[in-house]
Amino acid sequence: MIYLTRRACFNAAHKLYNPNWSKEKNEEMFGKCANEHWHGHNYQLFVTVKGVPNPDTGFVINAKELRDIVKKVIIEKVDHRNLNVDVDFLKGQMTSTENFAIAIWRELAPHITEGTLHCIKLCETENIYVEYYGE
Ligand code: NI
Repeated sequence: MIYLTRRACFNAAHKLYNPNWSKEKNEEMFGKCANEHWHGHNYQLFVTVKGVPNPDTGFVINAKELRDIVKKVIIEKVDHRNLNVDVDFLKGQMTSTENFAIAIWRELAPHITEGTLHCIKLCETENIYVEYYGE
């Protein structure tokens, strides 16, 4: 078994704000991230696919095809967008890094037909990232 990872970078705006809570409670929980006028992040997404190399190509998955899938299914929908209002697959959810990574997995998994999706790693800042393995 070998693991291939492809990186993609994008930037997007969002805010963390629970509409069921008061402004004060949101500010207490989310701090600056609750700013009603939004804020942005330069995200880095790492998509890891695992499998056995195909004997004809030596590839688990063609890295160029993986790039195109990630671009079409995720990047084009989130890059330079507002995650809270523009992204269909995040509708009605808190746009935390956790929820975002889980949603990316769900969108991408059906499109990975060579190898198997193993991990979605999503970096929100230099110091914070999440990893999701599908469970
Ligand atoms: Ni944020």
